[in-house]
Amino acid sequence: MIPHFTEARQRERVPTEISASAEGACVRLADEIATLIRANDAAGRPTVFGLATGSTPVPLYRQLIRLHRDQGLSFRHVITFNLDEYHGLPRTHPESYWCFMHEQLFNHVDVPPAHINIPDGMVPRDQVYEWCRTYEEKIKAAGGLDLQILGIGRTGHIGFNEPGSGSDSRTRLVTLDALTRRDAARDFLGEANVPRHAITMGVGTILEARRIVLLAWGEAKAGALAGAVENPPTEALPASFLQTHPDTVFYVDAAAAGELTRLRHPWLVGPVAWSRPMTRLAVVWLSQQARKPILKLLDEDYSEHSLADLLTEQGPAYGLNIRIFNELQHTITGWPGGKPNADDTNRPERATPESKRIVVFSPEPSNDVLGMGGTLRRLVSQGHQVTVAYMTSGNLGVPDEEAAMAAELVLEFDLSAGGAGSPGAVFAREVRQQLQGKTAYAADSTEVRKLKAIIRRNEARASLQACGVDTARVRFLELSFYEKGRYRRFKPTPDDVSRIVTLLEEIQPHQIFGTGQIAEPSSVPALCFSLLRQALDACQTSPWRKDCHVWLYREPDRMWEPAEIAMAVPLSPRELTQKIQAIYQHKSQRSQSPMLAQGLHELWQQAEHHNQAIAKLYDALGLAEYEAIEAFQPMVSIQG
Ligand code: F6R
Repeated sequence: MIPHFTEARQRERVPTEISASAEGACVRLADEIATLIRANDAAGRPTVFGLATGSTPVPLYRQLIRLHRDQGLSFRHVITFNLDEYHGLPRTHPESYWCFMHEQLFNHVDVPPAHINIPDGMVPRDQVYEWCRTYEEKIKAAGGLDLQILGIGRTGHIGFNEPGSGSDSRTRLVTLDALTRRDAARDFLGEANVPRHAITMGVGTILEARRIVLLAWGEAKAGALAGAVENPPTEALPASFLQTHPDTVFYVDAAAAGELTRLRHPWLVGPVAWSRPMTRLAVVWLSQQARKPILKLLDEDYSEHSLADLLTEQGPAYGLNIRIFNELQHTITGWPGGKPNADDTNRPERATPESKRIVVFSPEPSNDVLGMGGTLRRLVSQGHQVTVAYMTSGNLGVPDEEAAMAAELVLEFDLSAGGAGSPGAVFAREVRQQLQGKTAYAADSTEVRKLKAIIRRNEARASLQACGVDTARVRFLELSFYEKGRYRRFKPTPDDVSRIVTLLEEIQPHQIFGTGQIAEPSSVPALCFSLLRQALDACQTSPWRKDCHVWLYREPDRMWEPAEIAMAVPLSPRELTQKIQAIYQHKSQRSQSPMLAQGLHELWQQAEHHNQAIAKLYDALGLAEYEAIEAFQPMVSIQG
């Protein structure tokens, strides 16, 4: 499926291995690490690692722990240097990289504490320069880094070397990019809590490692990764400097590799098997390149744009254009649940039964309206029985200020109703006290999380009402992996799967909508998607299952390729406004800062731009001109 031949990699300036899953890539890398450690142990040398934090290396650390536990791999002669640490955070802070590394790796293997080096987030500013110099000297004294593990940020950073960092930069204090801070907001329970500065190894420091492995998972990394692999080295994308290193490899999953030419435009780098999806991908691309609607493409356009062999196989252009145009035309439907009494041969969804039982799974409240708010409204108005199932409460995403305000409302109401001290008021007083006594960045108590969940439940109901959904049908599954966990530390259980199975068996849906299939594997949408998939597998033999279509919607942060879209639901200007109103009900999810950093947008703006961009794409291909479009693909096409 994924081309690996050399020709396909001709645009790639750094060796890039694409794996089906993060897990698979990490099993291989952990074996490589074990071999290195054992060889150095045998030669009586220490092994020196540069380590990263964040979601990306977690599956690697899990594999290393497994090798230690099951195969006796010892870390006694391993020395580690971490890339970075937030400045201003003490070690004891739950989001410090010190804490992270101990929780995720060091506490589970036998690396001696004296061999662990992590930048100190509490070094006073006037001593940072000296401290960083000493850190570099320590790396040298240990013999230099044998292997440096890296993740990549959406800004293209490695370590915390944000755009603008030079290839010769050294360990230093840096200011974090606005996007990086936003990406860390969830871990810190709000953007306002994210530190503004960090100490990081420099690009030059990293490049001195003997071998470098960069890992990347999930579609959110696709843009930065393609830039780092295919564009010339530039300070605007610091990971691109890795191209200059003689022994660097990128291990990525298919979602993170999604923007590489060999996957996105493979005909530019070698021969291609012209399957239907590949043909559609190429014709759509050609129409964009030639800036012509599909039906106006000429034979010459095909041959001038490296598509001569497609023309030979499936040409001439006239017939090929019409075929692809019709295929795309057939993805457009105003009847996402199927059109009653219509010939459905060429429609994305079947006509019968006329009224379908539908379950829309939303990992957290708001994913549903962001991804398919307009479609939800249509499904309801077209007479289907729509159940929206919120898989988690989303309470970790509620800022303390919102919870404090809700507690005050209850207390003031209680007072105005006579001040008898109702059980609700007792609860609210408890929450107020806990919030007031909460130390910076401390985790929420059960009570505070409960109140935050209530806030999100009510926002979700208001949002669904704005979409016309009967809120009596809403389900809050409160999957326990989320309710008992915190970001990056979630551990799904069989109980999570069985809650989804119970709902599915009760409703026996004809149609399911889900999301998260190509999200970063440890993110809430990805975990929820994996649980949904397991639940569907568990229902495989249930009679309703074979007649149930599973559709996937997506977060609005990455553009769809028209070739990926199997169902395009157009929204009128009014429907788009209604969708925005529905998103707007998720008040606790709006930015806490009245001044958004340049280039960052509110959720509703992201969704608006995204849906309008898909419509523009369809328009430019010569299809009908709509205000906005919501897009879907069937789950089978991902698996198959
Ligand atoms: C962490 C680090 C960062 C991360 C990057 C990706 O030590 O240096 O460069 O690797 O921000 O973060 P995740 O893995 O959380 O997506």
